[in-house]
Amino acid sequence: MSEAPRRPRILAVTSGKGGTGKTNLAANLALCLRMFKVEVLLVDADLGLGNVDVLLGLDVRHNLRDVVRDECGVEQIVVEGPRGLRILPGASGVEEMVRLSDQELARLLEKIDRYCSQMDFVVVDTAPGISPGVISCLLAADQALLVVSPEPTAVTDAYALLKVLSRRPGGRDKPVSVVMNQIGSREEALRSFDRLRRTVARFLQMDIEYLGAVAWDETVVQAAKRQVAFATHYAGAPCSRDVRKLAARLVSSARGGSADMGRFFRSVSEVLNE
Ligand SMILES: Nc1ncnc2c1ncn2[C@@H]1O[C@H](COP(=O)(O)OP(=O)(O)OP(=O)(O)O)[C@@H](O)[C@H]1O
Ligand SMILES: [Mg+2]
Repeated sequence: MSEAPRRPRILAVTSGKGGTGKTNLAANLALCLRMFKVEVLLVDADLGLGNVDVLLGLDVRHNLRDVVRDECGVEQIVVEGPRGLRILPGASGVEEMVRLSDQELARLLEKIDRYCSQMDFVVVDTAPGISPGVISCLLAADQALLVVSPEPTAVTDAYALLKVLSRRPGGRDKPVSVVMNQIGSREEALRSFDRLRRTVARFLQMDIEYLGAVAWDETVVQAAKRQVAFATHYAGAPCSRDVRKLAARLVSSARGGSADMGRFFRSVSEVLNE
């Protein structure tokens, strides 16, 4: 019997305000997903200021700009990161990437999409804010992971992003899962999330869900300085445990929704107890 073609679950990691921790979360979440023996591609779609490669200390020769210019195919620019994670590096300081037309962006997404047929998850790190390119990425994804830090401005900017998303066709129905990052306490995180959820339900008629929270942890800063991933180099740190839990939840919900997820042979609890 021939196997049905795989269809990856595309997760777009996004935020209203800059600096909430998207890139750190996207990279480490992608690495934690690999613990479940799934195929994962991390895409650096912060098109003008990509920095996944720097964060993970990768030696990168080509990037998405070469794909946009038709100088390389997607498979030629993919680099292998820790744990066999595949990474599509973004361009940094390249203005043309920020100004891609809708057609150029659609062509790029199509090329990436073709490469993704062998993946189970595609984790897309986006630029912050409400630029049309970011909103298009969210609309193209199966699920948006909205990273919010507890500061009031991060919460109001998250609301602003959802407002823009809700006005685009299909935007209101996009599954949005919130990750509260850099939190001091679970209670504070839940309170901030609940305020956002109620406002969004009332004024935008959108439902958002809580995926979980990641503690404020000095380890994140230390790992970034060493250009290593905290999830692999500091696996016992609170931030790593929290991100593993997020990955486990995403795997569990994907497993519920997709027939071929039966390929996972390690149980969620096994990974969480490591
Ligand atoms: N859980 C955390 N604990 C402590 N520091 C954190 C945590 N998450 C992120 N940071 C710090 O916050 C800063 C921003 O992180 P990061 O670059 O991942 O954010 P970003 O949302 O991708 O930023 P941008 O919007 O500029 O792309 C970094 O200095 C990082 O070390
Ligand atoms: Mg970033």
